Amino acid sequence: QIKGFVFDLDGVITDTSLYHTKAWRQLAEKLGVTWTKTLEDGLKGISRMDSLEMILKAGNKENDYTQDEKVALATEKNTNYVNAIHQMTPANILPGIKAFLDDLRANGYLIALASASKNGPTVLKQLELTDYFPKIVDPATLSKGKPDPEIYVKGAEALDLDPTQCIGVEDAAAGIQAINGANETSIGIGDPDTLSAADIHFNDTSEMTLANIAKAMA
Ligand code: G6P
Ligand code: MG
Repeated sequence: QIKGFVFDLDGVITDTSLYHTKAWRQLAEKLGVTWTKTLEDGLKGISRMDSLEMILKAGNKENDYTQDEKVALATEKNTNYVNAIHQMTPANILPGIKAFLDDLRANGYLIALASASKNGPTVLKQLELTDYFPKIVDPATLSKGKPDPEIYVKGAEALDLDPTQCIGVEDAAAGIQAINGANETSIGIGDPDTLSAADIHFNDTSEMTLANIAKAMA
C-alpha cells in the first residue's frame, strides 16, 4: 500500500528544467560544444559537476580543463541559473501540482523532496511551497547522484517508509532509473520515449491525480 510520495523538483514541480537547460546551453556553446537534444535530455536530473563533465565529454573536452577551472565553469552556470530563479513566483508551479499536493495532504500521504539540486530549498521558497516539503534529501550528503538509487532510498528513509510504500515522480530518464533501482513505484512525466522505463506515465503534470494513479495501478 502506497503511503508516501517522493518528488523530483526541476521539471516536475516547476519549469526550472528550462532555466537549467538555458544556462547549460549558454556555457556549452561558449566552450564550443554542440548542443543536441540527446545532451539536453541526458543532463536532466544530473548533479552540477556531473552535468559539466557530461557536456565537456560531448565535445571531447574533458581533459582541457583543470579541476579548479571546472569548478569555475560550474559556478558560472550556477550564477546564471540563480539569477533566473530569483524571478520565479508561484505562477511558475506546473499545472495541477498545487492541487495534487493539497490532495496528497488531505489524504494523509507523506511527502518528501529528492532533487539533485542544491538550489531546491530556494526554488521551493520562491514557489511558496516550502511547507509542503517537511522532508528534503540534502544532495550534499549523497555519495552518488541519479541514476544511482541512493537519493530515492534516502527519501523513503526520511519518511520512515519502506521504498515499496513510496511513489517517486520524475521527468528524467536518470531519475526513473533511480526510483526503479530504489524499489519504489515510478511515475514519469513528459516524453514517453525518454521515460519508457517508468511504471506509470503521464504526458503532463495536469494528468497526475490520485484517481489517475489508482487507475494506472489497478
Ligand atoms: C536537478 C536538475 C539538473 C541540475 C541538478 C543540480 O537534478 O534536473 O538539471 O543540474 O538538479 O542542480 P544545482 O541547482 O545543484 O546545480
Ligand atoms: Mg527533473
